[in-house]
Amino acid sequence: MPPDPMQPLSGGRHPLHQRQIDSYPAPFLGGWYAFAHDEELKPGGVIAFDIDGESLVAFRSKDSPNDVGVLDRHCPHLGADLSQGKVCGGSLECPFHQWQFGTDGCVTKVPYSAAPLKASLRARRWYATDFHGVFCVYIDGDPARRGQPPPYQLRRYPDVDSGDMVLRGRRDAGMLRLHIAELAENSADVAHFQYLHGHMTIPFTGIRVPGVTIHHDVLWFADPDQREFAGFRDVAVLEVGGRRLPFTTATAEVRFFGPGSVMQFGFAFPDLGELVLFQTHTPSDPADPMMHRVRFRWYASKRVPRALVSYVVGSWMAQLQADIDIWAAKRYRDKPMLMPEEHQLLEMRRWYRQFYPSHRTARHDAAVADELQVQPARAGWQPVVVDAEAVAPSS
Ligand code: FES
Ligand SMILES: [Fe+2]
Repeated sequence: MPPDPMQPLSGGRHPLHQRQIDSYPAPFLGGWYAFAHDEELKPGGVIAFDIDGESLVAFRSKDSPNDVGVLDRHCPHLGADLSQGKVCGGSLECPFHQWQFGTDGCVTKVPYSAAPLKASLRARRWYATDFHGVFCVYIDGDPARRGQPPPYQLRRYPDVDSGDMVLRGRRDAGMLRLHIAELAENSADVAHFQYLHGHMTIPFTGIRVPGVTIHHDVLWFADPDQREFAGFRDVAVLEVGGRRLPFTTATAEVRFFGPGSVMQFGFAFPDLGELVLFQTHTPSDPADPMMHRVRFRWYASKRVPRALVSYVVGSWMAQLQADIDIWAAKRYRDKPMLMPEEHQLLEMRRWYRQFYPSHRTARHDAAVADELQVQPARAGWQPVVVDAEAVAPSS
């Protein structure tokens, strides 16, 4: 049976599991992490979740449905599980002694006490946001800095906010085993596009079309406006019998808002509008830091036909599955053996280092220093910032 691109992604487990984890610099990176979609956390709802050893509770205000609070899951009073509580107006009420907490963590009510509610009476709050229907929380890679305001915000998509683009689908792809760095590595690994993603397939089947290939022109870039953002632009064109067909040229752009926990895939349909798909990865198994829950949510301009949206989304999933099959069995190379044409991979790694907490990266830092020593011509190298608009489609 050919693979169905809309079926759950398959990550699987591998006998070399622990040795694979050990090959990466750190299992958890600081960033925004999705914990629920709009439909799962209604106004007045409460859910519990764990990320990187932190037990958290999220609740959504009844008074202001856009207001979502994320707090330490266990009550600062005497430790009850706040996820067993209920939402009263804009506060979360503990089930034990009925203290109430606002979305900012401050105690708003102690029903049996007349004492003033000092500012120090609070639960640890975590910064959360409603990102186009995906609730995300910021978790710093450094435990000592957790609970502080996030260093950056997710960038919203204006056409989704304005209503020009509407929700077309969402999908929980289940659990997938990968190190999140692979998503960024993949974006700058320009050589693999041709070999892993260079085949035309019949829509919704994964069956290759004989004689038809896809030529990719990929450029990785760091965002000039936001140091935590990067991405790549792929100008793809079909080739039939070795001949390029310029009228089939299509441009897609992928952006990373942080280390890969929140990604955005954008695709333009000439004369019709756009598609934007948000892909999130959240470590969701305390026993295995490489097990991620993967979710998608996508929006498109109203004029783009449903079948076209499904085809592009399905193709994105099928290409992702091809990567996953490689990631499931590979290891991370601190010092990869690269050809000169692969310099974007090193540029990406320099960009990516900002997400590794410094206390966990001694081995990785040493590897980067080594790399610079063995290639003195690149010792003065700085992250390359490319204006994405300057990358014109090939004709
Ligand atoms: S344990 Fe939560 S109010 Fe007492
Ligand atoms: Fe890939």
